[in-house]
Amino acid sequence: MTSTLRVWRGDADGGALTDYEVEAHEGEVVLDVVHRLQATQTPDLAVRWNCKAGKCGSCSAEINGRPRLMCMTRMSVFEPGEPVTITPLRTFPVIRDLVTDVSYNYAKAREIPSFTPPPGLAPGEYRMAQADVERSQEFRKCIECFLCQDVCHVIRDHEENKAGYAGPRFLMRVAELEMHPLDVADRVDAVQDEHGLGHCNITKCCTEVCPEGIKITDNALIPMKERVADRKYDPLVWLGRTISRR
Ligand code: SF4
Ligand code: F3S
Ligand code: FES
Repeated sequence: MTSTLRVWRGDADGGALTDYEVEAHEGEVVLDVVHRLQATQTPDLAVRWNCKAGKCGSCSAEINGRPRLMCMTRMSVFEPGEPVTITPLRTFPVIRDLVTDVSYNYAKAREIPSFTPPPGLAPGEYRMAQADVERSQEFRKCIECFLCQDVCHVIRDHEENKAGYAGPRFLMRVAELEMHPLDVADRVDAVQDEHGLGHCNITKCCTEVCPEGIKITDNALIPMKERVADRKYDPLVWLGRTISRR
């Protein structure tokens, strides 16, 4: 069958949607059809991909307005004859066609202090309860596709928030470390004051688009908000901290 791909073509100076008629075969995903388009009609089409197995996080784009992995979106989910519109991630600057500059995310990753075990604990001496292992394993399924970062309205609609907001993927990284039984760094003040957790108003769009099915909001962001609230607004915790600082 022939499908209509409506692809955004352009660069940082601007661009437009262009329609292409491309062959699509049963069982194919959007990335297959984009590759056929590139091979047969548009050799200069810029598109980023690597594993074609939903594991490298490279092929993120917006398909009919929804952030998705091109390699994990079957053509069969669209109605026959329905154009498939593919645009670059809106939250990040376009480099060319479907490729965006996601370096914001790497900058945010660098702002989070790394795992900090207790002094004197050598590798090989780490012991963790299974429940703690499982909790962080959910977060470590992240493939860094940045679809959650793309969809979060705090930065999608407000460029000015980028400086002070880590986004769901990296707020989740802080949560993972804060919940780690062997991490001794205090991350509760920083998650609010430096990484911008207060901007998140729990819309859960990040959770909805995560291809790994990670419950980002329920299992990472809300527990961190509870820890911040305990620290800042529980009078007994506040009193205890004030006295211990003297
Ligand atoms: Fe992608 Fe999910 Fe990781 Fe966000 S948390 S970067 S949506 S895998
Ligand atoms: Fe954004 Fe997710 Fe919070 S989409 S507002 S980080 S719940
Ligand atoms: Fe690796 Fe799609 S190509 S996730």
